[in-house]
Amino acid sequence: MAEQASIHGLWRSRWLFILAATGSAVGLGNIWKFPYITGENGGGAFVLVYLACICLIGIPVMIGEVVMGRMGRQSPINTMKALIKDNGGNPAWVGIGWMGALAGFLILSFYSVIAGWALYYVFQMMSGEFAATTAEHAGEVFGGLLGDPGTLMTWHTVFMILTIAVVARGVTKGLETAISILMPALFVLLIIMMGYAMASDGFAQGLEFLFSPDFSKLSWNSVVVALGHAFFTLSLGMGAIMAYGAYLPSGHSIGKTVVTIAVLDTVVALAAGMAIFPIVFSNGLEPGAGPGLLFQTLPIAFGNMPGGILFGTLFFILVSFAAWSSSISLAEPVMAWLVESKGLNRFKAGVLVGLIAWVLGIGTVLSFNEWAEIKLFDKTFFDTLDYLTANIMLPLGGLLIALFVAWVMRQDDVKAALEVENETLYKAWTVTVKFLAPLAIVFVFLNGLGVFAFG
Ligand code: PFF
Repeated sequence: MAEQASIHGLWRSRWLFILAATGSAVGLGNIWKFPYITGENGGGAFVLVYLACICLIGIPVMIGEVVMGRMGRQSPINTMKALIKDNGGNPAWVGIGWMGALAGFLILSFYSVIAGWALYYVFQMMSGEFAATTAEHAGEVFGGLLGDPGTLMTWHTVFMILTIAVVARGVTKGLETAISILMPALFVLLIIMMGYAMASDGFAQGLEFLFSPDFSKLSWNSVVVALGHAFFTLSLGMGAIMAYGAYLPSGHSIGKTVVTIAVLDTVVALAAGMAIFPIVFSNGLEPGAGPGLLFQTLPIAFGNMPGGILFGTLFFILVSFAAWSSSISLAEPVMAWLVESKGLNRFKAGVLVGLIAWVLGIGTVLSFNEWAEIKLFDKTFFDTLDYLTANIMLPLGGLLIALFVAWVMRQDDVKAALEVENETLYKAWTVTVKFLAPLAIVFVFLNGLGVFAFG
């Protein structure tokens, strides 16, 4: 297929693509979600399955997504249309683009609410609320926040406006400088937190919880969650990486680029776990405390360390930035489509996308208080959205992407676009996207659904 031009601009270099894609990947998923689902799913064995999913499924699918984006050079929906036409595929494959756009909306709606918690904590930290705090007090502050829909709505609104302000300008412009400073800063702060955790009594216990696998604690549902999280944390299966890949200049090895992103993402998640679990155990907290884990543990550490107000404030600012660079990428696939196909300018498209996701976010806000008892299959509105998107829609999107790139696209084109440097690695990738990744995803799904009783 002849190379297309992108109407949305290009990243100025491969490094900026890496930064932007890492900005998309590293977010609440790493710092907030990974630790709490690891806690809920028993620790080490879950972490091991998650790492396996990243290597065997996440990385190969990500390579596929970037290649498709770079060849199509448009929004995922239109990229799919172009690739289908070019390869003579069935028009139904465009469903990959549509499902991705929908998943993006759904995730953005709750992501903004949780990112709002981080914004709220910036100010709580700054005010000194957590000076010399106890686990009990930290729990009360968090409980107080969840029980107050007005405050949740305020910060959800602020975060959504921040997101839309960047998307409306165009991601290749607004984002580059911010990411290249803030991502490294977040990393340094996580290392400082790990240093603090290392000196605490719970360090050995925290490490053991994270890294010593006990498979008796692993259910099929945990495996589904691990697979879903591999997709969520790498921003895969919904076209975000495809959209960013559309702005990637040619002339670079996609494989190396993707591995760099996946490694950075994984390191941040593990560092967050290593900072949080020692504090959990030193303070006699519950690893399975749920979505509040980050917000109930780290304030204890910051409140009791020298310079804690400064570090704590900085930490939650950086978490908010990490969430920001991710939420921007959630909106991008549908934004690019509105601009290309509906003739909207980026500002109008941004307002539309932001408004819909904001309204949907009200459901998540209420699911922590007024609607807390309203449950579908034992899940609140927020739990349902989270489960549906991360554990069903993203892996399904990933499955279809793997099948499309491996079975529908002409392999000569794919190979050329990949700019293959190593023939063996290329073969390994082909086998993985053709067979291994699709079979693994289907296998996990079926077991998760309880269709087969292999477990
Ligand atoms: N990867 C982000 C995180 O870990 O927080 C979340 C995310 C962003 C998921 C973009 C999906 C996506 F398209």
